[in-house]
Amino acid sequence: MKGLILSGGKGTRLYPLTYTGAKQLVPVANKPVLFYAIENLVEAGITDLGIVVGDTKDQIMAAVGDGSKFGAQVTYIEQPVPLGIAHGVKVAQDFIQEDRFVLFLGDNFVRDGIVPLVRNFENEAPACQIHLYKVPNPQDFGVAELKDGRVVRLVEKPQAPQSDLAVIGIYMFDHHVFEAVNNIRPSARGELEITDTIQYLIDQGLKVSPQIIAGAWIDTGKPGDILEANRLVLEELQPHIEGQVDKDSQVNGKVTIERGARVKNSVIRGPAIIGEESEIINSYIGPFTSVYHHVLIEDSELEHCIVLEHSRIIDVESRIEDSLIGRYVEITRSPKKPKAYKMTLGDHSKVGIL
Ligand code: TTP
Repeated sequence: MKGLILSGGKGTRLYPLTYTGAKQLVPVANKPVLFYAIENLVEAGITDLGIVVGDTKDQIMAAVGDGSKFGAQVTYIEQPVPLGIAHGVKVAQDFIQEDRFVLFLGDNFVRDGIVPLVRNFENEAPACQIHLYKVPNPQDFGVAELKDGRVVRLVEKPQAPQSDLAVIGIYMFDHHVFEAVNNIRPSARGELEITDTIQYLIDQGLKVSPQIIAGAWIDTGKPGDILEANRLVLEELQPHIEGQVDKDSQVNGKVTIERGARVKNSVIRGPAIIGEESEIINSYIGPFTSVYHHVLIEDSELEHCIVLEHSRIIDVESRIEDSLIGRYVEITRSPKKPKAYKMTLGDHSKVGIL
């Protein structure tokens, strides 16, 4: 079997983070979310991987390389314009050829991996296997309707959902999928939809099997959801301290301090992770916080946050909570009068002021 990971797209829901950065590289517990997908595939024995890339191709290639550090071989497939998930499959036809494959959306996260799902697909050999997750708000997702153990209909964001089973961004196909993606028409939003692709297979009388997953699934394409994925991974953190913690600091609970990081006169309460070459000075880092590399946090308090690389948070009086802070961000107190908030914020930034 092969693996196909979609890492193109627009990422509008994560603006402004994704104006310049690939959303699949946003770190969850200091590891790009895309890497979890690669590791899930490799763990299931799938090492021949295609990654569909768009505008952020260079960043994805720089991060993943040839795949050898994951024990995989990666082929990059360019999608000139993000015309939909099914279009991402279409452009990968030469790579997949006649093989069966797992399609994995590069921003989807599953806590428990995919090993039993792949084994089931191999044994049962349907034309397609989809994966479903019970959600409280099915009207916000693609929803599957099941009958006698088969999928009979998929409905995108139904007003009156017939089930609470959302279709997650991991799919398995055999070669029939190419007939489907070459026959469906773009939807009202101008994209080739994966829902229409699977509905085409159902309408052709082919077997589409459902697998309901129990372990958490998160589509990290929205800010709150990335924090939730971060929380889940940090809960399982295997703590280790490679950086320096001075004698005036306290480190409690599951905490990782990566190489070259320095903690001075601070309290770190886990689960939390401090990235390479970051400095925490006179500060409090609370549970479920991931600080990426080359960050400076001084005289400030953070909890349940993700801070991306090269940002500086200095002398902020109130605790920062539930926040996703991008790259090269500066949050500082200005000593100059008049006393006022002074900001340079990118488009679509969101700030909560006290
Ligand atoms: P989506 O989150 O459905 O779409 P998007 O990336 O355009 O984001 P937004 O809705 O915030 O604008 O994409 C799911 C995954 O598939 C994601 O990793 C991007 C990838 N993708 C492609 O590679 N090509 C495409 O044409 C599309 C639509 C998505």
